[in-house]
Amino acid sequence: MIPNIAAFKTLIKDRVGLHFFKGMEGLLNAALHQRISERGKESFAEYYEKLSVSTTEFDKLLSLLTINETYFFREPDVLDIVCDKLVPRMLEQRSGPVRILSAGCSSGEEAYSLAIKLHQKFQHKFADNVEIHGCDIDSKILEKARSANYSSYSFRGVDPLLQQTYFTRNGNQYQLHDVIRTKVAFQRANIVKEQLLPKFDIILLRNVSIYFDVETRRTLHFNLLTMLQPEGALFFGNAETLANNFGILRLKQEFGNFYFCQPKTSRAQIPATEVKPRLITPVIPVEAPFIAAKVPSAQQCDSWIKKALACVADKRFAEAETLIEMVLNTDIHHQQALVIKGAIALEKCEFEQTAVSAKQVLALDEWSAEAKMLLGLAMMWQQHTQQAIAWFKQVVYQQPGYWPAHYYLAEMYRQSELYRPAQRTYRITLQLLNAEMSRADNACTLRLPLSFLSHSFRFLCEHQLAQLPTQDGQ
Ligand SMILES: C[S@@+](CC[C@H](N)C(=O)[O-])C[C@H]1O[C@@H](n2cnc3c(N)ncnc32)[C@H](O)[C@@H]1O
Repeated sequence: MIPNIAAFKTLIKDRVGLHFFKGMEGLLNAALHQRISERGKESFAEYYEKLSVSTTEFDKLLSLLTINETYFFREPDVLDIVCDKLVPRMLEQRSGPVRILSAGCSSGEEAYSLAIKLHQKFQHKFADNVEIHGCDIDSKILEKARSANYSSYSFRGVDPLLQQTYFTRNGNQYQLHDVIRTKVAFQRANIVKEQLLPKFDIILLRNVSIYFDVETRRTLHFNLLTMLQPEGALFFGNAETLANNFGILRLKQEFGNFYFCQPKTSRAQIPATEVKPRLITPVIPVEAPFIAAKVPSAQQCDSWIKKALACVADKRFAEAETLIEMVLNTDIHHQQALVIKGAIALEKCEFEQTAVSAKQVLALDEWSAEAKMLLGLAMMWQQHTQQAIAWFKQVVYQQPGYWPAHYYLAEMYRQSELYRPAQRTYRITLQLLNAEMSRADNACTLRLPLSFLSHSFRFLCEHQLAQLPTQDGQ
């Protein structure tokens, strides 16, 4: 089959995430024709074959496709926050160098702008306290970044005095001084497929995600979650931030700007006063600063989750737990894995573990009805009736069609001798059950691996309604 443009688009998106939105296909067409003619008139099919197997050829084509537009001190408000607020605060609160990553750094202007600003602020101490790294998928543009030789086009709006202080003019070009150039280490990396480690305190990922579709941006967020320190900050370009709010990282507003950080967990906060600032061993991060680890893909996690659910259904809990741990080792904040972990603990009567997992889910998503249902059940089995009522009420409020929540709420009312609310709630449960059983589809389900058999529960509701006293104090 002769590959069409769609086949090339798929290959490129799968490898590096770049998505050719309508209007950008012309760029891909032009790049393909350029490479095919430079290589000596191969057919489309031959070129596709070559591209699939040769990383060198892939890189050459990629260099024609990436949009490397950048300049010094672009969107300076974020650079000010990083250099004037976050870096000083981080240095005060803990030891060790502050590690910054300019991801999708292109020809290096963003990373060097940070280095210049930090040099202005900290002078020679800066080298000891801050590491700056830049990474990009495009090897060719990284050569330019390392050489740090720029035309006047890179200095749009830069103060001429600052330009004179840090650059030496050579004809039409401006060479960055070594005092700054040597402070940034550049590395080729694909941020969609690789995690750069050790973790970073600050990541700038500006004007890169606009070339990715939603699915790729979500995958990217899971990588970033792993790459970001617990107290770290991740900045997108000003116009990109809201389009990147997937609830994976937490959006925070500080110093008049938005950035993303790790979701809230029960991690203990280090009190700032206990940690004194100290000078850190100088770091010259030019040689091999990163370990690029292969990330198990989102599909891999999905397949582990599916297998885990099958194991839970067969009551093979140990196997299910192993699979869930594999998912959580990849992504400690995987919401569905945490829910399943909580449900397995419930099946094993480990109610405290159920509550821990459910609360972790609520820290990620305060509207998780699954987590609230798990908490209700864990409280119920521990005889904490009032707390169970409170959780089941919340589920009923959020998911009025989910009959198991109504049923257990009715049970809790009955145990508390609140007979009228119990009757009312059993009746609602019955109505929902009857409606569900007369339909082929399920009316309302939660993503919980717990099975509630409709027939048994209908019998129980009818039985309780027949038994309940008709009078109570309500
Ligand atoms: C428009 S530039 C942004 C430069 C700089 N961050 C700024 O805001 O001025 C986008 C850069 O992202 C890089 N890029 C695109 N996909 C990437 C990927 N999967 N991994 C790393 N870099 C990528 C491109 O090569 C390009 O140099």
